[in-house]
Amino acid sequence: MKTSIRNVRSTDLAAVVEIDKALFGAESFPSFSMRQFINLFPESFYVAEQDGVMVGYATIGVNAFSSDAWLLSAGVIEPYQNRGIGTDLLASCDDYCKKMPVETCRLTTDPDNAGAIRLYGRFGFQVENEILDYYAPGDRKVIMVKSYIH
Ligand SMILES: CC(C)(COP(=O)(O)OP(=O)(O)OC[C@H]1O[C@@H](n2cnc3c(N)ncnc32)[C@H](O)[C@@H]1OP(=O)(O)O)[C@@H](O)C(=O)NCCC(=O)NCCS
Repeated sequence: MKTSIRNVRSTDLAAVVEIDKALFGAESFPSFSMRQFINLFPESFYVAEQDGVMVGYATIGVNAFSSDAWLLSAGVIEPYQNRGIGTDLLASCDDYCKKMPVETCRLTTDPDNAGAIRLYGRFGFQVENEILDYYAPGDRKVIMVKSYIH
């Protein structure tokens, strides 16, 4: 099966929201936030398709004033995990940061999400710190950071 990575289109909203819900449940983005990400960051919002079916996405937002970026979300639906699709999506985000004037990129993940932490580590992200009550009381998140300054 052939996987392709392309930039998001405005017509992808429903499919991306569905993937996000399936992956993150109560922590998924409401449709209006996803619409805003698509509006704001179409050049750095990537979707993965397998034989024409959307199976994952990843999006980066860059602060135009500070050149600091955040990986806002990334995910691949379960039957398609462990096939290199997350790596391909991350590679697109990484290439984007390299070609833009990005100085640092940060992301959050759950401390027990070992697979995601390994994936990000392979792209040069390192654990910066761990913060309690990050999105809500009792919610602990790991912050990972990669510097693009050489
Ligand atoms: C984290 C996530 C995005 C990774 O996506 P993925 O497509 O599974 O990532 P990859 O396939 O590129 O890599 C995952 C593993 O599969 C391995 N792999 C890659 N291609 C492979 C292949 N063809 N055959 C077998 N294994 C393969 C990778 O080496 C990696 O191994 P590791 O777990 O030992 O490190 C995905 O698991 C996911 O969406 N999880 C739920 C949501 C989530 O946690 N998102 C991140 C929030 S911060």
